[in-house]
Amino acid sequence: MAEAMVLFLRFCFQLIALPVYLLSLLGAWEPFCKKIFFPFFMEMLTAGYNKKTAEQKRELFRNLPEFANSSGELRLLEIGTGSGANFQFYPPGCQVICTDPNPNFHSSLSKSMAQNQHLQFKRVLVASAEDLSKVADSSLDVVVSTLVLCSVQSVEGVLKEVLRILKPGGAFYFLEHEAAAHSSWDYFWQQVYFPTWKLIFDGCCLTRDFRNDLERAKFSEVNLRHIRVPLHWTPIQSHIIGYAVK
Ligand SMILES: C[S@@+](CC[C@H](N)C(=O)[O-])C[C@H]1O[C@@H](n2cnc3c(N)ncnc32)[C@H](O)[C@@H]1O
Ligand SMILES: *[C@@H]1O[C@H](CO)[C@@H](O)[C@H](O)[C@H]1NC(C)=O
Repeated sequence: MAEAMVLFLRFCFQLIALPVYLLSLLGAWEPFCKKIFFPFFMEMLTAGYNKKTAEQKRELFRNLPEFANSSGELRLLEIGTGSGANFQFYPPGCQVICTDPNPNFHSSLSKSMAQNQHLQFKRVLVASAEDLSKVADSSLDVVVSTLVLCSVQSVEGVLKEVLRILKPGGAFYFLEHEAAAHSSWDYFWQQVYFPTWKLIFDGCCLTRDFRNDLERAKFSEVNLRHIRVPLHWTPIQSHIIGYAVK
């Protein structure tokens, strides 16, 4: 019964979003989404999202300096940097490499860099997190991912790359939205919105679980919590937050 309801409501939302589906069929939606809509949307969303998660982000990144290398430098790489929403939370002097497969965040990223002169920006790479071949093995102290794993092709592939580029003892920090408890109404709505949401928001999958992937990957230690971010009336309130050590 619940499944039939999901399918019916899903179909209703697909009807409402029909113009987007048609543009997609014509091959016009994805380029527009990547070039204009999604970078603009993320820039709009970031201030509000950072306000709601400021406490958690500060808490999460508090122990970043503990992972600095023996010369006291902290070499950090962000996957899916987008417009650089996390820069304000990194400690002074932190060396940052930005990576994202979509180069169209350029203007908001530059703005964010200019506002965070306490950091040293080293490189901006156009690369997906499944293939960071331009980054050497064991060359980083920290890798960060926020709101990225929902959109990658392969979570397992990304974690493998993260483990390759981290030094032994380096840390992977994450804050990701995830599937709500399967018995909840939130999960019901996530299933309803799933295909339309994914199409509109650049491949964002609402119903992924990351706990198993993180625990199965070869980290020596995984610290994680499930939290609720009060993004009222959105299907992205359930989050996973923490860090894993190589
Ligand atoms: C929702 S935005 C989040 C941006 C930023 N991390 C933040 O917290 O505001 C998702 C980002 O992931 C990027 N992305 C999509 N697929 C990716 C992949 N396979 N590897 C790395 N980043 C990816 C997108 O281009 C986009 O910048
Ligand atoms: C620490 O990082 C700095 C900056 O990247 C690098 O020059 C230095 O060689 C590193 N030190 C060690 C011991 O790896």
